[in-house]
Amino acid sequence: MLSMRWVIWWNILIALYAPGPSIGQTATPTICEDESCRCDSFTRVICSCTKELEEVTLRPQGAYRIPPMTTGISIEGCHSVTFLQNTIRSLIQLRTVELKNISNIMIRERALDWSPFSRDSEMNPGIRLTIENSTVSEIASHSIQGRINEVLISNSRIINLRPFAFSSLTGVKSVEFINNDFINIDIQTFKKFTTSNFIIRGGTIHNLPSRFLSDVEVTNLFRLDGVKIKYLSSLTFLVTAPKRILIENNVIDTIEGDCFHMVSRGPITFRNNSVTVLNKGALLGFSVQREVIAVMGRQELLIDNNTITNLTPAALVYNQTVLTMRVDGLNLNNSCTCELAEEWHDIYNKQGGIINCWYELEGYFISLPTFVSIRCGTFKQTFWIFVAVGFLFIVLAAGIAIFFIVRKENEKKKKLQIVLPDGKTYKETEFHVIVERAELLTTDL
Ligand SMILES: *[C@@H]1O[C@H](CO)[C@@H](O)[C@H](O)[C@H]1NC(C)=O
Ligand SMILES: *[C@@H]1O[C@H](CO)[C@@H](O)[C@H](O)[C@H]1NC(C)=O
Ligand SMILES: *[C@@H]1O[C@H](CO)[C@@H](O)[C@H](O)[C@H]1NC(C)=O
Ligand SMILES: *[C@@H]1O[C@H](CO)[C@@H](O)[C@H](O)[C@H]1NC(C)=O
Ligand SMILES: *[C@@H]1O[C@H](CO)[C@@H](O)[C@H](O)[C@H]1NC(C)=O
Ligand SMILES: *[C@@H]1O[C@H](CO)[C@@H](O)[C@H](O)[C@H]1NC(C)=O
Repeated sequence: MLSMRWVIWWNILIALYAPGPSIGQTATPTICEDESCRCDSFTRVICSCTKELEEVTLRPQGAYRIPPMTTGISIEGCHSVTFLQNTIRSLIQLRTVELKNISNIMIRERALDWSPFSRDSEMNPGIRLTIENSTVSEIASHSIQGRINEVLISNSRIINLRPFAFSSLTGVKSVEFINNDFINIDIQTFKKFTTSNFIIRGGTIHNLPSRFLSDVEVTNLFRLDGVKIKYLSSLTFLVTAPKRILIENNVIDTIEGDCFHMVSRGPITFRNNSVTVLNKGALLGFSVQREVIAVMGRQELLIDNNTITNLTPAALVYNQTVLTMRVDGLNLNNSCTCELAEEWHDIYNKQGGIINCWYELEGYFISLPTFVSIRCGTFKQTFWIFVAVGFLFIVLAAGIAIFFIVRKENEKKKKLQIVLPDGKTYKETEFHVIVERAELLTTDL
């Protein structure tokens, strides 16, 4: 700090005592004279910090301002980089801002607001902003606005994203976040603009707030890929017009109902995600533009190879007037039971998809119908075996009973046969008489 101030005074002294023309510089120094920076012959500002705790501040005016004809700003390896308000507003030639390997980036309100053209046109040149391998302390409200071609932030830690951080942008081709860790994200981070592509790939996010993307038109691709997310609020994505929506390979703790409020122009793929809680109506906000329906019919919502722990069939409710759903793989991360199968029976009957449950006995996922046929089916089979055994038992018992009854009857009949001709009935006490008669009979024959 001291050395910097000293340099300022030194420059002012030079300006005073050895006037401009002989040195070829303006009265006040520009960032080109900062000890960490230089300006090359292509009017680029290049700052490369080599010493510990070196700081660079980018300002629109005063001493160490950025020269007005600057075409690019490239900063690398500094401890701290701060963009002050309106830093780039009047840099008409500016095309790129590149920040790399910086421990602390601070982008103040309206710092990267750039709208030098009176008329909005994609033919006008725009700015490319890249941030790589850095820690971004804050991207303040309204800090990035105007004619931006591309935003690419990768391998960075983003501590604070304020409301409207990216807002009122024009002519955007792509907004891409690759392998970043987001710490705090305020609501309405991305507000009211159109971009061809919006991509978040890899990295971690604690909490995506409501209206994270608010009135954002994505004309080509919306992709959320390989991100670890703790919480996705209701109305996180208020997005219109993507031709393709891909939500793949994510590990998400909770997805609230109506999280995706997206009007698509094409198919929607929800593939290979691990979700702990998928709340009721989580997919209900997916819709399709009327014009697309009129020309191409309903669009497909593909549910493929996802593992979800807490959900009821109501979590899969979708807008049937504009979408068709194909379930190519849904692993219910619950132990298979016949009750679970019963709960999902309607869905897999109607949907015809592949819905699996966790088969604890074997330690893998099996399809619900298979489980029903091998386990819930077995139950039915044993039931019928019980019925059959019971029936046989009754038949046998009846048979034995009949046998004894018949035998008893026969004996009674024998008794009756040996009743004496005089018609009197005799009790057991007269058995010897019968025996004698029998002997007589046999000898007769
Ligand atoms: C990144 O910056 C630090 C200082 O902040 C420096 O020590 C290191 O060498 C830089 N690494 C690369 C790959 O530029
Ligand atoms: C990323 O930044 C850290 C610290 O700022 C540095 O040590 C590392 O070398 C950088 N890596 C790359 C690939 O630039
Ligand atoms: C599926 O997603 C997991 C993360 O949940 C990832 O590790 C794996 O590579 C993905 N598989 C494929 C085939 O993309
Ligand atoms: C399906 O999901 C499982 C579990 O998440 C994963 O290991 C596998 O790679 C996925 N396969 C495909 C083709 O995505
Ligand atoms: C389904 O989508 C159409 C068209 O976007 C919409 O009018 C309707 O209200 C939606 N239905 C439900 C149940 O959300
Ligand atoms: C499945 O559930 C178990 C316990 O309920 C949990 O430990 C595991 O992480 C879950 N798997 C996935 C892929 O969500």
